[in-house]
Amino acid sequence: MRIVLVGPPGAGKGTQAAFLARNLSIPHISTGDLFRANISQQTELGKLAKSYMDAGNLVPDEVTIAMAKDRMEQPDAEGGFLLDGFPRNVSQAEALDEVLQTESMKLDAVLDLEVPEEEVVKRIAGRRICRKDSSHVFHATYSPPKAESVCDVCGGGLYQRDDDTEETVRTRLEVYHTQTEPIIDYYKAQGLVVTISALGKVDEVTARAMDALRRDE
Ligand code: AP5
Ligand code: ZN
Repeated sequence: MRIVLVGPPGAGKGTQAAFLARNLSIPHISTGDLFRANISQQTELGKLAKSYMDAGNLVPDEVTIAMAKDRMEQPDAEGGFLLDGFPRNVSQAEALDEVLQTESMKLDAVLDLEVPEEEVVKRIAGRRICRKDSSHVFHATYSPPKAESVCDVCGGGLYQRDDDTEETVRTRLEVYHTQTEPIIDYYKAQGLVVTISALGKVDEVTARAMDALRRDE
């Protein structure tokens, strides 16, 4: 399956993607994670991306699209993928359509996670991420690690993202409304959008998502 996950910052896209990708046996491709890996390896792309990310703005399309395309062309993505955080505006959605068309492939669904703004603010404020594996995500209150600042899964140290400050989150939400939400209409016109509530426990949301994707088949 080829799926796009969309939803505001802090909706739980990364959290759900980890479970959905495992259930569906497809790779989880997160442009945010790819940028963060470049930042920690101090690549030129990482240096460029960091300034945009820290301000809560989108990284320019040209580099983002090239990076996403390169990742989608890796052998493990041949049978399908779950895109998290890409596309993030209409030009990226059009670029993705072009990539898919040249390969005679198409998307199966766009899963839209709905969460009220006050909840995403709480989720982001408490988020803690593992330094060794970014798919190990915790929350200080909702899913606290057993030992403070230590990952339950692999023992890695937990950290808070540089762009999880109150001011940057406000910008990220605004960018979501103005630039990313329009892709929902873009995909509605293609009959691909499945909207679910992302409120409730993590496993309840996963079950809801799996149900919605099955119904959509
Ligand atoms: P990106 O990394 O994509 O961040 P985002 O979209 O802002 O989303 P988040 O990662 O903040 O949230 P999430 O929805 O994954 O939530 P999570 O699962 O962690 O992008 C970061 C930046 O990179 C962008 O601002 C931009 O600069 C750049 N970028 C990336 N892609 C780009 C693109 N295509 N074009 C241009 N620029 C791009 O969950 C949040 C917290 O809530 C966690 O603590 C979790 O434990 C908790 N939680 C999750 N689910 C639940 C639940 N059901 N109940 C209680 N708590 C929950
Ligand atoms: Zn870990």
